[in-house]
Amino acid sequence: MIYFNNAATSCPKPEAVYQAVDYFFQNSGMNPGRSGSAERIDAARMIFECREKIADFFSIKDSAHLVFNSGATESLNTVIKGVLKKDDHVITSKMEHNSIIRPLERLKVEREIDVDYIDLDPESAEVDYQALENAVRDNTKLIVISHASNVLGTVNNLQRIGELAAAEDILFLVDAAQTAGVIPIDVEKMKIDFLAVPGHKSLFGPPGVGALYVRDPETLLPLKEGGTGTNSLSITQPEIMPDYLEAGTLNTSGIIGLRAGVEFIQKEGIKNIHQKEMKLLKKLIEGLTVLPGIKVYGKKEIINRTAVTAFNLEGYSSNQLAFKLQHDYDIQMRGGLHCAPLLHKFLGTNTKGMLRLSPGYYNTEAEVDKFLNIMESII
Ligand SMILES: Cc1ncc(COP(=O)(O)O)c(C=O)c1O
Repeated sequence: MIYFNNAATSCPKPEAVYQAVDYFFQNSGMNPGRSGSAERIDAARMIFECREKIADFFSIKDSAHLVFNSGATESLNTVIKGVLKKDDHVITSKMEHNSIIRPLERLKVEREIDVDYIDLDPESAEVDYQALENAVRDNTKLIVISHASNVLGTVNNLQRIGELAAAEDILFLVDAAQTAGVIPIDVEKMKIDFLAVPGHKSLFGPPGVGALYVRDPETLLPLKEGGTGTNSLSITQPEIMPDYLEAGTLNTSGIIGLRAGVEFIQKEGIKNIHQKEMKLLKKLIEGLTVLPGIKVYGKKEIINRTAVTAFNLEGYSSNQLAFKLQHDYDIQMRGGLHCAPLLHKFLGTNTKGMLRLSPGYYNTEAEVDKFLNIMESII
């Protein structure tokens, strides 16, 4: 099997991640904060250490402002639904994932919010920064933007958007689903108020774990309320962080696996990981572009991007080709639409979709060659 679907989830994980999760279950399956044994203390200590490690990775000053949850979708829902009130205005873009679009569309109906979906620059395929600036209104409460497109791999300039948001006193939410672990993120430098982080993609963690950074907890209400294992006499949600946004039993094994993923990245070097992925991507794009009948979407340059590319082959729908590649050749990638409906409309691919390839750190140049040979023989 050749796995070119790392934008969906990274596979395989580093050996250390498997070992960390296994170690947790073999040695301490206790619920942190909900029992009194030595193992409980161990689990709570492990979570604290993971929080410190992951907060530091994103230059978060106070690790209590990093809460663990199930992933980017939960983080985005928490902020969008926790911050926005009736008649607020939001600026986002046509690049966004349904994890942003769907909660916003719900609030359009339920809270009568207004949403501007900004176009992409046709040259760079990044958000049109001027249009974003022009969209600011007196009632703009939130700017929510992906760090990178999950379809085109384009990376947006977060610092530029963060500076605009800070200057206009607008909250800035970043969807780091496609970049956390592969492109450095500094919440201070980039003036990010909320950072949505999935654990299972480039951070190499298990599925079902993620994190949310919140600069000022007073800017939002929690999505969930419930047990925190602290302050149990209180019948209202504790206001201290991280408990304020961390109701319910945490995914301890996932969090421990996530820490192992982050440690692996630190050991290998985020720059080395990105460079290796870019080398594979370059070979893929160059190989695909010279084949007849292939249309590669987005920019072809290997600068300022993640290891994602999308294409179509004349005469095939993307799903037909994906089916063939999977069933005849055991190549894992993704055809169809990629949870980014406005981007597909913008690019005119909302009926046939696109075939998305996303090589990862564990892929090899030999696998890219093999894939290109297969494409040549199909053509
Ligand atoms: C850009 C983007 N945002 C959000 C998500 C959702 O992430 P999670 O699986 O952690 O909920 C994804 C996952 O595919 C994504 O690519």
